[in-house]
Amino acid sequence: MGNAREAEGARRRVIVAITGASGVVYGARLLEILRELDTVESHLILSRAGRLTVQQESRITAAQLSKLADFVHQPTNLGAPVSSGSFKTYAMLIVPCSIKTASNIAAGNTGELISRAADVMLKERRPLAIAIRETPLHRGHLETLAKLAGLGAIIFPPVPGFYHRPRSIGDIVDQTCMRLLDQIGIAVETAPRWGEDDGVRAIGGVGALGK
Ligand SMILES: Cc1cc2nc3c(=O)[nH]c(=O)nc-3n(C[C@H](O)[C@H](O)[C@H](O)COP(=O)(O)O)c2cc1C
Repeated sequence: MGNAREAEGARRRVIVAITGASGVVYGARLLEILRELDTVESHLILSRAGRLTVQQESRITAAQLSKLADFVHQPTNLGAPVSSGSFKTYAMLIVPCSIKTASNIAAGNTGELISRAADVMLKERRPLAIAIRETPLHRGHLETLAKLAGLGAIIFPPVPGFYHRPRSIGDIVDQTCMRLLDQIGIAVETAPRWGEDDGVRAIGGVGALGK
């Protein structure tokens, strides 16, 4: 008989996939936040188009981005551990997620590691959050997202909130990352929370962007 004990103290494996949609900064910041957590082991998959967006809109290189993760898997490597349901992962975040990757997942096209790993999350009933980044959305996009929601994915467009009165892009990104991690049961306090003592208080009648 095999060893039936659960691995003690095992870190939760979180897959962070970054695709070629605008908003690489969200994925990079998530990796930074996860790196601070002793309880998490991060697995990065950066798509080929994701590399382009890193070059285009980020101040860090793909190599620097990779250093933020505990493990890095090539997007073409269908033999990577995250390609199998028997590899115990805790959750997967696709941040940002392109329409192409979302469509592949919805259609069951698993020819690339990101869509394969996402499909594994769905079949194993593990959390998969999709930070879809496109605007405006046509009916086909909406149908794709509805299909993914029906399959159990968390559809999480990175839409900024303003009730915490962000003063920088960093504040906006941090709040989005916090809310995204909330979805998979990882609580970090990178932004004030509404209604909490040290958080955001309900304020009536402030001027737009006023202090
Ligand atoms: C600078 C840049 C920004 C892009 N932004 C988006 C975007 O926000 N949303 C999207 O769906 N596609 C966007 N694209 C197009 C995708 O990169 C393209 O569809 C690609 O095939 C996605 O591949 P992937 O999902 O494997 O990363 C962008 C492309 C570039 C070069």
